[in-house]
Amino acid sequence: MITQRKKFLIGNWKMFKKQREAVADFTLLNQLIAQKKQHSPGWEKKEVGIAAPALFLAELASQNASCVNLYAQNAHWEEQGAFTGELSPSMLKSVGVQGSLVAHSERRSMFGETNATAGKRVGALLKAGMTALLCVGETLEERRAGHLQSVLAAQIQQAIQQAALSSAEQWIGSDVSRPHFLVAYEPVWAIGTGQSATAKEAQEAHLFIRQCLAKAFDVQFADMIPILYGGSVKSGNIQEFMTCSDVDGALVGGASLQPTEFAELCAKIE
Ligand code: PGA
Repeated sequence: MITQRKKFLIGNWKMFKKQREAVADFTLLNQLIAQKKQHSPGWEKKEVGIAAPALFLAELASQNASCVNLYAQNAHWEEQGAFTGELSPSMLKSVGVQGSLVAHSERRSMFGETNATAGKRVGALLKAGMTALLCVGETLEERRAGHLQSVLAAQIQQAIQQAALSSAEQWIGSDVSRPHFLVAYEPVWAIGTGQSATAKEAQEAHLFIRQCLAKAFDVQFADMIPILYGGSVKSGNIQEFMTCSDVDGALVGGASLQPTEFAELCAKIE
């Protein structure tokens, strides 16, 4: 049986925007989504979020923007301690943050993120009752060398192992229709390049990721986990991806920076 998985549209603001712009854009996005919710059906089946720069999260959370969830772009795996410059899941939760991206490819390529540290972050977020969005994806060299599947398998399996959670329930949380663990497939060559994967390429990779999840747990578990596509998604191409049976939403960089464009994109999927 295929579960009707919820759709997730998460914008990644990366290291963009100053305080005033961040607050204004977040407020506007919430208003736009609220309007769209009034005029079109099906919003109970989708969830919108923004992964904002950590500096602004507390202030954005205090805006009571009920239509848009807030995510961090990274979170440490320890609860607290002498870890200069880091933020723990419970600190993020204390200001109203819902979850965090984990191991975005920019963190893997520039800041020493490994599959092991990615897994520890996922484990800590889930233990804190938060959402963990694990980002995986291959470089162009890896794809050309035929290593797509081995790269994805290692990224998924090692993260699951290192998360060191004792039961499948900890991955899902108390509401099976809204799992705490999400995966984003983001081919590195498609991020910020304007050259997205084709819908066929995305579907193949997503199906393979689901098979990896089934191997790690079981088919039922794999069926519940939303897998988002990321890499040059915009309002003009989101629908192509959403025709794929294993694509459950998108992680959006550039096109999430403009509230009108991002709201438009969110409205385009059913
Ligand atoms: P992009 O970024 O949409 O600008 O390609 C996606 C991401 O980095 O998550």
